Amino acid sequence: MAIGVFDSGVGGLTVHRELTRRFSQRDFIYLADQAHAPYGGRGGEEIVDLTRAGCERLFEVGASVIVLACNTASAIALRRLQQTWVPEARARHGRAVNVLGIIVPTIEAATGLPWSFEAERSERFGGDKIEALEITGVFCTAATAMSRVYEIEIDKRREDLAVFSEPCPGLAGLIELGAPAEELTVVVRDHVDALRRRIGRHPDKAILGCTHYEIVADIFAEALPPGTPVIHQPSAVADALDRYFQRHPEYGLGDTGRRTFLTTGRPGAQSDLVAQFWGAPLTFDAA
Ligand code: DGL
Repeated sequence: MAIGVFDSGVGGLTVHRELTRRFSQRDFIYLADQAHAPYGGRGGEEIVDLTRAGCERLFEVGASVIVLACNTASAIALRRLQQTWVPEARARHGRAVNVLGIIVPTIEAATGLPWSFEAERSERFGGDKIEALEITGVFCTAATAMSRVYEIEIDKRREDLAVFSEPCPGLAGLIELGAPAEELTVVVRDHVDALRRRIGRHPDKAILGCTHYEIVADIFAEALPPGTPVIHQPSAVADALDRYFQRHPEYGLGDTGRRTFLTTGRPGAQSDLVAQFWGAPLTFDAA
């Protein structure tokens, strides 16, 4: 059985790359739903249906644990699928299967607190005076921004962190198409500037809350004031998966180091932008 990694397109490769480094012996199957990318401007029900279909395909081809390497799917679809569909998929496939998201590990990295902290928060936090307010800017898709998941979950844990999400509609689509760096730089700068105008200053910290944006992390770093700390999802997700596997040895994961890349879109070589990020040309097969 393999670890499945799912995204609307090439963005999840940023998480996949870190997971394959961390769990190098494990078998991996990556599925990009490029026939329907980008997800960020789609409605909630559509995102749930597409994510469910992608996960079902990954279970069919041999995944047992799937990481949704997509903030949009994690924010909109994950809880629904875990509650209403995964138990049924487990029974139907007759083996241990699960779907995990990437927002919980990101919130843990952003707050420096375990997810379980929220339950004990009133006791530990008890309305202490806030000495300084730190501002976190989240660059993400329109659907993730609309879900307000980062604002809600960070606010439950850290009253001294204010969160502003900046929707960047179109950016994931441009990255998916392999747009040239000059064009991407203009778009990223516009969004960084829009957030600065909305807050009244630059954020103290940034989260790249769309896995596609990690491909252009250097462009974000240049557009933000020098030295702005950026939370990178790939390492946060790999740490969380490591802890998850220590608690859950039941998935029968293969260890031949096999790597499979599938797409619902047009199979073949991915863009030069992807090759540049990946360090080598990358080819997807038909899902
Ligand atoms: N890379 C995905 C995310 O993290 C999806 C982007 C999109 O398809 O719009 O949200």
